[in-house]
Amino acid sequence: MVWAFAVFAMVALSEVPLLKGKSAREVLEEQGLWEEYKVKYPYNPMGKFERSAVGKVPMFNNADMTYYGVIFIGTPPQSFKVLFDTGSSILWVPSVYCTTPICNIHNKFNPDLSSTYRNNGSIFSIPYTTEGVGGFLGYDTVTVGGLTVVNQMFGLSEAETPNMMHVVFDGILGLAYPGLALSGATPVFDNMMSQGLVRQDLFAVYLSSKSQQGSVVTFGGVDPIHYYEPITWIPVTRELYWQIAVDSVTINGQVVACSGGCQAIVDTGTSFITGPEKSMNNINSCVGSRVLRGDYVVSCHKISQMPDVTFHIQGQEFTLPASAYVLQSQYGCRAAFFRGDDSLWILGDVFIQQYYSIFDRAHNMVGFAKARKST
Ligand SMILES: *[C@@H]1O[C@H](CO)[C@@H](O)[C@H](O)[C@H]1NC(C)=O
Repeated sequence: MVWAFAVFAMVALSEVPLLKGKSAREVLEEQGLWEEYKVKYPYNPMGKFERSAVGKVPMFNNADMTYYGVIFIGTPPQSFKVLFDTGSSILWVPSVYCTTPICNIHNKFNPDLSSTYRNNGSIFSIPYTTEGVGGFLGYDTVTVGGLTVVNQMFGLSEAETPNMMHVVFDGILGLAYPGLALSGATPVFDNMMSQGLVRQDLFAVYLSSKSQQGSVVTFGGVDPIHYYEPITWIPVTRELYWQIAVDSVTINGQVVACSGGCQAIVDTGTSFITGPEKSMNNINSCVGSRVLRGDYVVSCHKISQMPDVTFHIQGQEFTLPASAYVLQSQYGCRAAFFRGDDSLWILGDVFIQQYYSIFDRAHNMVGFAKARKST
C-alpha cells in the first residue's frame, strides 16, 4: 500500500526538481574540485493538465551546499536556474542589460523576446550577506514546476557583485512572507495562492545529502515518499521569515545553547546552522571542533565519536548526528555551526537535509518530519 500510494502521489503531483549548488564562498574554496555536471531539466507535463494542483521542481544537489531548480520566465519561456530561498521574498534573474562578466556566465532574461513582458521600471537592489544585486522591475509569466503564474513581478538585474560569479544558479526565487519583499512585489508563492494554482497553500522541501540527486520543492502539497510520519507542526512566530521558537539546544542532555529559548528561521538559502557567536563557540567546543581561519575544524576520523546535537522545538527533539553536521571535503572536515546573527538563529540546509520541511501559509506553521533518504 505504501508503494501504491507513493506511485499515486508521484503521478498526481508535479514538482520542481531542485539542483544543489554552493555558496560563493564554497565555490571559491573548492573551485574546480567538484565535477561539473549537466542536468537535463525535466519539465513535468502533468502540471499542464491539472489546473489547481501541485507543482514539483527537482533540485540539483551541488556538494550538499546549495540547492537550485529550473523555472521559466516569459513567452516563449526562457529558462533559469534559481535558488529556492525561504530566507528572502523577491524573484530576480540576470537581464541582458547586465553586461559585466559576472552576468555573462549566467542565463540572462531578454524582455524583448517575451510577448507577455510588461515593464515596471522601478529600481530594486538587494544586499545579500555575501552577494548583492541591483536592477529594475518588470512583470511576466513565470512557470514553476508546471504551475503558470501570470503577472509575476520580478527583478531584472543590471549589476551584480563579483561574488555572484561563483554561484552556480542564475537568480533567486524568494519563498518568505510578502513583508520581506519590496513594496508591491508580490512573491511567487503568494501569486500561486491567489491565482488558485495550488491545491493547498503550502510548499515542502526535501534536500538530499551526500551529493545525491532527488532534492525537490513541492508547491501545493507534500510528498509522502520523502518523509516518515509524524509531522511536528510549529507555529510561525513572526510572519516575515519562516521564524519559529526553539526551546533549547542540548548535547548529551546538557543545554549548550539557546538556554531559555531562542528564535530561529528555517532557511533553504543558507547552507549551515548559524547563531550567536557565544552559542556557536559553545557548541563547537562541545563537539570537539577548533577554530582555524574562521572555520570550525574537526578530525575526519573522529566523526563517529562526536556527539549528537539536539534542537528542542515544540516539545520534540530534532537531532543532528555528527554525520549530518560535519561537512567533509578534500580540504578536511569542519562542523556546520557558524557564527551568525545575535538574535536570529538560522536552521539551514544541514538541518533541512535531516528534516523534510513544510511551509504552511494557510496555518502559518512550519512542519518538520524525519526525511526519508532515498538510499
Ligand atoms: C511599479 O511598481 C510600483 C510598486 O508596486 C507601483 O507603485 C508602480 O505603479 C508600478 N509602475 C508601473 C509603471 O507599473
